[in-house]
Amino acid sequence: MASIPVLLLVLVFLLSVDYANAQTNHSNNISLGSSLSTDANRTSWLSPSRHFAFGFYPHGDGFAIGIWLINQTEKTVTWTAKRDDPLVSSNATLELTRDGLQLRVGAVKNITYIDRAPLRKTASAAMLDSGNFVLYNNLSVVLWQTFEKPTDTILGGQNLSNGDLMVSSVSKSDQTKGQFSLLMQTDGNLAAYLVNSSDAPSSNSFWSSGTDNSGTDVMLTLNASGVLFLHGDRLGVRILASSHYPDKKNVTIIHRATLDADGIFRLYSHHFESDNSSSMVVEWSSLANQCEVSGFCGWSSYCSGVGSNNGPCKCYPGFHFINSSNKFLGCYRNFSDNGCRRSGPPAMLSRIVSLENILWGDYPYSSVQMKKNDCNISCLEDCNCAVALYGRGSCDKYKLPLRYSRASKNISATAFIKVIWKNITSPSIPFHSETVGPKIERGLILILAITLGSISCLCFMFAIYTIFRYKHQVYKYRSLSENTNLGLIEEFTLRSFSYNELEQATDGFKEELGKGTFGVVYKGTIPGTVGDERTAGYFYLAPEWKLNAFISIKADIYSFGIVLLEIVCCRRSIEVNVPTTDEIILSSWVYDCFMAGELEKLVEDENVDFVTLERMVKVGLWCIQEDPALRPLMKNAILMLEGTMDVPVPPSPVRSLVVS
Ligand SMILES: *[C@@H]1O[C@H](CO)[C@@H](O)[C@H](O)[C@H]1NC(C)=O
Ligand SMILES: *[C@@H]1O[C@H](CO)[C@@H](O)[C@H](O)[C@H]1NC(C)=O
Ligand SMILES: *[C@@H]1O[C@H](CO)[C@@H](O)[C@H](O)[C@H]1NC(C)=O
Ligand SMILES: *[C@@H]1O[C@H](CO)[C@@H](O)[C@H](O)[C@H]1NC(C)=O
Ligand SMILES: *[C@@H]1O[C@H](CO)[C@@H](O)[C@H](O)[C@H]1NC(C)=O
Ligand SMILES: *[C@@H]1O[C@H](CO)[C@@H](O)[C@H](O)[C@H]1NC(C)=O
Ligand SMILES: *[C@@H]1O[C@H](CO)[C@@H](O)[C@H](O)[C@H]1NC(C)=O
Ligand SMILES: *[C@@H]1O[C@H](CO)[C@@H](O)[C@H](O)[C@H]1NC(C)=O
Ligand SMILES: *[C@@H]1O[C@H](CO)[C@@H](O)[C@H](O)[C@H]1NC(C)=O
Ligand SMILES: *[C@@H]1O[C@H](CO)[C@@H](O)[C@H](O)[C@H]1NC(C)=O
Ligand SMILES: *[C@@H]1O[C@H](CO)[C@@H](O)[C@H](O)[C@H]1NC(C)=O
Ligand SMILES: *[C@@H]1O[C@H](CO)[C@@H](O)[C@H](O)[C@H]1NC(C)=O
Repeated sequence: MASIPVLLLVLVFLLSVDYANAQTNHSNNISLGSSLSTDANRTSWLSPSRHFAFGFYPHGDGFAIGIWLINQTEKTVTWTAKRDDPLVSSNATLELTRDGLQLRVGAVKNITYIDRAPLRKTASAAMLDSGNFVLYNNLSVVLWQTFEKPTDTILGGQNLSNGDLMVSSVSKSDQTKGQFSLLMQTDGNLAAYLVNSSDAPSSNSFWSSGTDNSGTDVMLTLNASGVLFLHGDRLGVRILASSHYPDKKNVTIIHRATLDADGIFRLYSHHFESDNSSSMVVEWSSLANQCEVSGFCGWSSYCSGVGSNNGPCKCYPGFHFINSSNKFLGCYRNFSDNGCRRSGPPAMLSRIVSLENILWGDYPYSSVQMKKNDCNISCLEDCNCAVALYGRGSCDKYKLPLRYSRASKNISATAFIKVIWKNITSPSIPFHSETVGPKIERGLILILAITLGSISCLCFMFAIYTIFRYKHQVYKYRSLSENTNLGLIEEFTLRSFSYNELEQATDGFKEELGKGTFGVVYKGTIPGTVGDERTAGYFYLAPEWKLNAFISIKADIYSFGIVLLEIVCCRRSIEVNVPTTDEIILSSWVYDCFMAGELEKLVEDENVDFVTLERMVKVGLWCIQEDPALRPLMKNAILMLEGTMDVPVPPSPVRSLVVS
């Protein structure tokens, strides 16, 4: 009798052991139909070591799906699914199906896949101790794994393959895509970029491994013992960093290399002791100085390592933080930056504040050798100049915004920042410890005002005269053609076309006749005036027409520039019968000649005053800048043509985006 209860007890014990085993292994071998839910008790699948979890983690007012390193106080997310998708609300279920991981949100049958395994072959899944989440087929062959889709982190045993990239997160707690990328380039270089500039590699990376041209098979690997290295056939093994933490019994070490939200690539090691205590060590950083990360501080602010008790980002004088609780977003000035639009000479409204030991990444629109104080005055008097940088005898003038600025004791350059006085009547805005530019006397102001007033008046009268003369000419042509009934009115008179007319005439800008450096010429036809005869026409459009961008008065300045160059060179803007193909498009030919110092080519054997010629060419080139903001106002174009205003050296009319 006594034996029966004993037997039962043993059975129950065996059953419970079996049950316990099944429970433990369930987390590592996830079978079809298993699911996680934001509302149920099981929101994640753990790795056998219980250091990693896959599933829903709370984020903002919803949930994200990903993998994280478990820590009682603070979890470290190592992978996130569909980072930029909207957050999952509560009431969501994640289920393992033959098609892959299926996400269902709410009562609606709204199904999306985290990733689709090919051909409905998923048989099981596992959260591995390495931090890799894997989908298998029925033969335990890996169909899909998170290790192949790194977000901002690689773990021990993971690679960053050739051509792949990692993108930093917005912050430690927000895994959506941030500003920086780390690219394993096909030239063998591992390089870090600002995200939006990664289309122009190697010229503007702010950090790189320096292994360019070392083969097209180079790969980045973090191995299980914490060695971070590049390897390839030709390169061999190039170790970037290795973990120094000694191996200890009873301590689990997990290595991780992350492109952090601040743009620095770091190697970390996490230590889990048997008594549940844990720690984290930064083993290596790609850059020691945060300010070397270009774009770390936003536009019109600069990164300064010294005295950074308020964080490293500071606004330029006269600017304010866009958001004072997030100083990385950059700074702004709350008034228009175009001093020239104001009624009065720019010098009346602005002054210069100087800042030492500073540098930034854009290209100047003008660069001239001069004395330091002349540079200060030159920027003050040039209404295009927002800030000038003086170094090594050269005065470089820039427009806003300024990017990638940093201050450092090692940089020997002085910035002159133009500060606009909002109130002419209260001319002292205090800026302690900074030098203030030249003071303008009241008398001088009066003289300048009167002079400028008279000039504007003259210009106005000149314009009226020109318009009347033009109308008169048109009238003469009209009556000529009407009398002789040539039917060629369109050839003799100027006509303005609307955008729709142009679009129709060119059949939607279909046939491109030629593309110069600065514009595109389209073939079009305009219905003739006699019968169905048709006249061929050429159109020279300001680039913003094609870009569907905002069309302003500056489009007319562009046309003015083209006509000016046509007059100077005595030829049409497009001329097919020319000795070399370089000469077909007038604007690009003129710029080439100007840069080469061969302006005489433009006028052939004519006897001209080269100083005037150069001035006219420079004004023409300013007017045809692809960036409308760079084109001068008509008033200034006239002042420059007259010689009353200095003409800076024009940049290439093609918009250029240049980074340090
Ligand atoms: C369950 O997992 C443990 C290690 O995690 C392993 O030793 C054991 O063999 C597994 N059991 C089964 C039934 O797979
Ligand atoms: C969650 O667990 C609690 C007790 O721990 C239980 O009362 C509840 O029913 C569980 N909910 C679900 C959806 O399993
Ligand atoms: C969750 O879904 C159920 C139906 O499946 C629905 O009745 C309930 O209102 C939903 N809850 C929320 C918070 O959306
Ligand atoms: C389905 O879910 C996706 C993301 O989870 C969402 O963008 C989409 O709007 C949803 N569609 C419907 C019909 O609810
Ligand atoms: C695995 O699945 C394939 C079909 O996808 C089937 O033909 C094969 O028999 C299966 N093998 C095992 C071991 O279940
Ligand atoms: C997962 O478990 C199933 C049985 O429950 C087994 O057939 C399959 O091979 C296991 N998969 C892996 C990857 O261990
Ligand atoms: C990483 O690369 C090595 C060497 O090429 C390879 O053996 C290994 O399988 C790769 N790891 C993963 C997770 O793909
Ligand atoms: C990158 O460019 C896209 C579109 O051009 C923009 O939406 C995004 O905000 C930019 N990102 C950064 C970090 O500037
Ligand atoms: C990691 O790489 C280093 C250097 O190549 C090597 O000495 C070490 O044995 C590797 N460790 C593992 C676990 O592969
Ligand atoms: C490792 O842990 C086990 C139990 O968790 C303990 O008995 C052993 O002494 C520990 N070894 C060391 C070197 O701390
Ligand atoms: C766990 O979190 C605490 C508090 O943030 C931190 O000090 C510790 O280093 C973390 N441990 C690991 C292994 O990341
Ligand atoms: C400008 O000056 C007027 C009076 O002189 C004053 O009322 C106003 O607050 C000033 N504005 C600024 C922005 O200083």
